[in-house]
Amino acid sequence: MSVTDFNRRREEFPTLASGIHLLSHSLGPVPSTVRESMLEYCDAWEHHTSEDAWATSWWELSQRVGDRVAHLLGGSPGSVQIQPNASIGLATVASCFDFAASRRNKVVTTALDFPSMEYIWEAQKQLGAHVHVVPCDDGVTVPLERILEAIDDETCLVALAHTSYRSSYRVDAGAITERAHSRGALVLLDVYQSAGVVELHAADWQVDFLIGGTIKWLCGGPACGYLYVRPDLQRDLKPRLTGWVAHDAPFEFAHAPMRYAGSVRRFAQGTPSIPALYSALPGLKIIEEVGVEQIERESRRRTEAMIEFATEKGWTVNSPRNAQERGGSVMIAVNDGPAMVDRLAEEKVFVDCRPLAGLRISPHFFNTDQEVLEALDTLARLMEKWKR
Ligand SMILES: Cc1ncc(COP(=O)(O)O)c(C=O)c1O
Repeated sequence: MSVTDFNRRREEFPTLASGIHLLSHSLGPVPSTVRESMLEYCDAWEHHTSEDAWATSWWELSQRVGDRVAHLLGGSPGSVQIQPNASIGLATVASCFDFAASRRNKVVTTALDFPSMEYIWEAQKQLGAHVHVVPCDDGVTVPLERILEAIDDETCLVALAHTSYRSSYRVDAGAITERAHSRGALVLLDVYQSAGVVELHAADWQVDFLIGGTIKWLCGGPACGYLYVRPDLQRDLKPRLTGWVAHDAPFEFAHAPMRYAGSVRRFAQGTPSIPALYSALPGLKIIEEVGVEQIERESRRRTEAMIEFATEKGWTVNSPRNAQERGGSVMIAVNDGPAMVDRLAEEKVFVDCRPLAGLRISPHFFNTDQEVLEALDTLARLMEKWKR
């Protein structure tokens, strides 16, 4: 691994002092400035009677954070609505379809998607959705041709993980969107495991929806999901999963029928999680400043080196070898995942594991090369000791 000249901003992440943090696929380390941001939130709340917190900052905060996220997704301002979490983002999109009313009722997903996807689409079957899950034979990839073949004239939506939480397999967003649109279908990508570590091009791809959240590669706190909707599609959709915040004039507190907002706010539901928004801002700022282009380059260099290391040791790598098909994590098979996670934690190396994936190991821009090597050396020692 060659060392590059790179400001890793390590001093801004106090958690890094406690060991080698390789968990960005799960929960990123908290930026120290989150403490100030949360205090601002408390101050605004405390002074609400003299300075209306909603009017002065809270009401427009969702949009402010949404626009910051949109920038990182490669979208324009006004294309992202903050959500309670990614699952609700997906359910909101699902609620825009009337599956029973049309022959175009097929939803194409893959076997590598996050379980929320599966549960939510399973539930749509009761409403007439025909769910087609493209299988994964090797536990790591879903061949692009298979996904493309599954998209036909009855497909209303192709909804899949851009990068899989299980193998770090990354699909070709441009090719999938092109095929789907040529067949009259829309595309939703779950970019939770991509945003902040892989460059995204929502507008260039012309993708219809992106969902995700801030707690992983974006170094934000929990309960701040997001939903990107292609700007020229927004007004065609009327989510049944809705609420007063999605109304065109929410403070009229008008009776039904619903009059959806003309903006991306039509995909909101109820009161936004204000603390989550405050907790997300510092991480978004750091990611913007470091730059996703640079983060991706660095990620690729390190995941490449990790795979080389693992291959030399004869380990089973449950992630794609091809960097074009990989996100920021490397999955390595071990005998007893949970036990190995505990043993590594005792040595101050923090990773996790998932069924069928093995260990999930994720270097982010703040990790040094030395840390990544030390983590792999520790793993090699423990594998030898415990016979994998
Ligand atoms: C790819 C992916 N999608 C969705 C989720 C779930 O997100 P949420 O808890 O915000 O619904 C996760 C969480 O780990 C994930 O990795």
